[in-house]
This record gives sequence, C-alpha cells and structure tokens, in this order.
Amino acid sequence: MSSLGLLLLLLLLAPPLWSSSLPPLDTPEGKATIADLILSALERATSFLKKRLPEINLDGVVGFRVLEVQLDGVQKEWARDPQLQPPSSRVGTLVQKLVLLLHRSIFYLKMSDPQYLTEFQPTVQPGFWKLPRVWIHTNASMVYPTLEPQETFSEEQSDLCLVQLLGTSTDGSQPCRLSDFCRTLMTKPGCSGYSLSHQLLFFLSARMKGCTNGLFHQSPHYMNLFCANMMDLNQRVEAIGYAYPSRDIFMENIMLCGIGGFSDFYKLRWLEAILSWQKPQEGCFGMPDAEDEELSKVIQHQQHYLRRVKRREKQFADGCSSHNTAMAVAALGGFLYALAQYPPANRELQQATPPPPTATHVDGSIPATPGR
Ligand SMILES: *[C@@H]1O[C@H](CO)[C@@H](O)[C@H](O)[C@H]1NC(C)=O
Repeated sequence: MSSLGLLLLLLLLAPPLWSSSLPPLDTPEGKATIADLILSALERATSFLKKRLPEINLDGVVGFRVLEVQLDGVQKEWARDPQLQPPSSRVGTLVQKLVLLLHRSIFYLKMSDPQYLTEFQPTVQPGFWKLPRVWIHTNASMVYPTLEPQETFSEEQSDLCLVQLLGTSTDGSQPCRLSDFCRTLMTKPGCSGYSLSHQLLFFLSARMKGCTNGLFHQSPHYMNLFCANMMDLNQRVEAIGYAYPSRDIFMENIMLCGIGGFSDFYKLRWLEAILSWQKPQEGCFGMPDAEDEELSKVIQHQQHYLRRVKRREKQFADGCSSHNTAMAVAALGGFLYALAQYPPANRELQQATPPPPTATHVDGSIPATPGR
C-alpha cells in the first residue's frame, strides 16, 4: 500500500477528533441521544457533589443551584409531552436530589466560610436565578478593538461591588446600591478573562435582583457588550484547542451568557468538548490527567497563576476542581434547557461551523429583544 493510501486508511479509522460525533438534532432520536448524554454527565457530576459535599465551596454551590433551576425548567418543558415522560421523571429525580444536597451544602458553608456565605447568601438561595425569557444573540461588532493587557480588577474588588448590589453588607444598606467606584469598575471597557465575566455577573445579578434604576436602565446594553466579548474570548479558546487553564473561563462564559439569554453560546461542538472533559471515574471536571511530567509542570505553573485570580478555587488531590465542576454543570444544564425549550427553532445547536459574523436572530419565532 502506498504511504498516501495508508495515511488515508489511518484517517478513516481514527476517531473523529474535531468533527462532531454527536447525532444531528433534526430528528427526535438525535435530540433524545444528546439529552441522554447530557443527563448522564449531570448525574455523574451530582454523585461527585454528594461524595464531596463538605468540601464544596460557595462558587461550587452556585453552579449546582443554577443547574437545579435549569433542570426544573427542562422538566416543565418535557412534562407537556406525554412521549417525554421517562426522561422528564429522570430529570425530576435529579432535581429532588439536588434540592436536598444544596440544602445540606449550605449548612457546611455556614461552618466553613460563614462571612462569605452571609455576603453571598442570595446567590445560593432558591428563587434567585431565573431562566431567560427571550433568546438573543451576541453582536460581533461590539467586540473591543484592543484589550487591557491584564486582569483589570481583583476578585476582592468585584466581591465588594456585588455585596453592595445584593445589599448584604453589615451596614444594612438596601440592594441595588451602586458606588461611583463600582460604576467605573463594572463598566470599564477593554477587560477580559475573569474581570470581564464578573462585569457580566454583576449586571446579571442586578437583573435577578430586579434593579432597574440609574445605570441599570442600560443593563441590556452592557450585557450585549460583555457577552459579545465573552463570545470572542470563547472562540479564541476554541482556536487554541481548549488548552486546559482556559477551559474554566470558557465554561463560565457559557454559563453566565447562557443565563443572560445569549443562545449562540450553545454550540453543539462546544457541548461535545465539555462532555469530553468530564473525568469518567470521579464525575468531576478539573485538571486533565497529565501525559508527561513536563506538561504536568506547565499545568501546575498555570494553576498557580490561576489561583491568584480565583482565591476561592478549590482543587482536590485527584485533579477535581470545585469551580470547574460547577461551571461545567451550569453550562451543561443550559445546553439541556436550550435543547428542551426550542428544539426545532434553535439553529445554533445544529451548527457544525462557526456562525457568520452577521448572524443576529436565533430564528423567526423568538423576538431578538434584549432584556425582559
Ligand atoms: C450591533 O452593534 C452595532 C454597534 O453597536 C450596532 O450599530 C448594530 O445595530 C448592532 N446590530 C444589531 C443587529 O443589533
């Protein structure tokens, strides 16, 4: 056999690494297969949560709380269709499990990090996170021409502004408050990474809290701006082959902009990538098993760098990460919700190639109106 023939044969035999191996979404069977893959991954991740409950930090609890809300939404969608009874009751079982686990996890947080829990209590409570009512798209023309070279603010500064917004500080002030410092920080252009995702988190929290006055009049504009840039970042993460430390921010962006209603974050090939990162044994997400020592050193170095940004990140000895797992489940829950809510309409989920930059509408039936 010629070497070219051999190469072709090898290519044919090799597992499709970059092409999508997920079934098409235009048949009920295809949809059911994908829903089953996501649900199985979420069930394994919930077992991980159960096993490590006392060690899960607050960010971890937030991710699973968001998942609970998404699954609840999925169940409501599916409950209308008699044919979807079996998967619907499977989701119901998982929701019940999560409700119990979350209740217990808050008890552990009270003991391990009472101050932080007091400040962020609303974000782990039932009823805080709400699913998007309208689906919109990012607008590529809002991507910043240049970026700040580094993270533009610290986690502490971001926390301070969120606590003001939530109205949970000990000075007893009302929610939706905004200092000049926080206004400047949270609207600062050119941010990327976790500074950018926290700017979006800030406006998203304002929406959840029902803040509409002053700057929050412009919440839709800022959410469009930040998610356009988070989309750009995610596309760059994909272009570099989802190198490990960037997977965390990649999934955080899908989680946050997804809850913001930006359906173009739910791409089938991104779903496939995330599913492939789950550790089959533990059910968690985290550091990939290093193939050699050199890679392991690089990863540890990057971990160290990452930890400076996310002080509350919790990395377990087996490579599982509380934050990574939380972002993954909330991203996956969003995929399932998008799948359940607009199965035939959501073109985004079907796309195998990046969308043209001019794409603006999810489909004809969903009004592309930002906000609610
Ligand atoms: C996208 O953003 C640009 C610049 O802000 C704006 O002019 C344009 O109208 C937006 N497109 C859509 C479809 O919203």
